[in-house]
Amino acid sequence: MTRPTPPDTPQDALAEAFRLLSRGVADRRSAFHTPTLATRGLDGAPSLRTVVLRSFDPACRVLRIHTDRRSPKAAEIAADPRAAIHAYDAGAQVQMRLAGMASLHLDDAIAEDAWAASREMSRVTYATTDAPGTPVAAPPAAPDDPIAGRANFAAILLRIDALDWLLLAAAGHCRARFAWDEAGALSAGWVAP
Ligand SMILES: Cc1cc2nc3c(=O)[nH]c(=O)nc-3n(C[C@H](O)[C@H](O)[C@H](O)COP(=O)(O)O)c2cc1C
Repeated sequence: MTRPTPPDTPQDALAEAFRLLSRGVADRRSAFHTPTLATRGLDGAPSLRTVVLRSFDPACRVLRIHTDRRSPKAAEIAADPRAAIHAYDAGAQVQMRLAGMASLHLDDAIAEDAWAASREMSRVTYATTDAPGTPVAAPPAAPDDPIAGRANFAAILLRIDALDWLLLAAAGHCRARFAWDEAGALSAGWVAP
């Protein structure tokens, strides 16, 4: 394993953060391919689960995730759009914590495009009879209808408004924090690890 080189500036750290997110979309072995998504539970308690990172647009800082619109996380985002993403890439020795506003897309062009880009093996997973989290007598057989799943499918977009980047390095851990205001203006700086 190569030793990570600390970036010279927070802007370099941000470029590296965005590179890791882009790689997370493309590389199934990347830790950022399956980060943890945090939402606020309907009872106010934290709510976490693994998701697949489907796309990342660095220009507008938007991540895309797919889910079942019947799932608790969909209801949680509808009730409170604040959400966060976490992953630690052991190879890069980088932890990232992202926070922002999530939006749920059910039947609009974003959802249609996301569905169109999905592979059949992904589409069938949404064709379950029971909504995620429904008590069942026994684990059900895998669904096999790639068309029926569309009615249950949703895309989630998460716009990153804050990013906390931590690199573990022998020479000294290196942490930077980034925040974007409503106009998209970035504030960036090192913070104590
Ligand atoms: C590797 C892995 C990838 C997953 N990817 C997704 C995903 O992309 N979307 C999703 O809704 N659930 C995904 N899940 C399942 C969720 O972690 C979770 O169990 C399920 O969505 C129910 O979450 P909820 O009850 O918080 O809504 C994945 C689980 C694992 C282990």
